[in-house]
Amino acid sequence: MPHLEGSNLVLDDSYMYVCSSSELEEGDLIECETETEIIVVGRGDGNVYATQGICTHAHAELADGELDGTCLTCPLHFACFDIRDGSVLEGPAETPLQVYEAIEADGSVWVSKGRG
Ligand code: FES
Repeated sequence: MPHLEGSNLVLDDSYMYVCSSSELEEGDLIECETETEIIVVGRGDGNVYATQGICTHAHAELADGELDGTCLTCPLHFACFDIRDGSVLEGPAETPLQVYEAIEADGSVWVSKGRG
């Protein structure tokens, strides 16, 4: 788990830097990649969240969708997911999204490379 040591953020290598906090405004979505996964990071209701970046219905990139509050809408067939826990709010998708731990500290946004 990342922690603050003095004014410096100390991370182990299971976390990946995403962007500065100012680059992720309310409703923004940013895609990032680990060695094995595509992840989408968004800010909803002021908090940062991360889920798998590809829709579970077909192969749409969720970073091209929309985030309204905590509802993440796929750009292809408009399934809605709760970005907080990945659950399906509205089809046609039936399978929830995998979630990842996203954190904001010291003016930066980080995401866990491991599944949450
Ligand atoms: S690809 Fe996302 S709803 Fe169909």
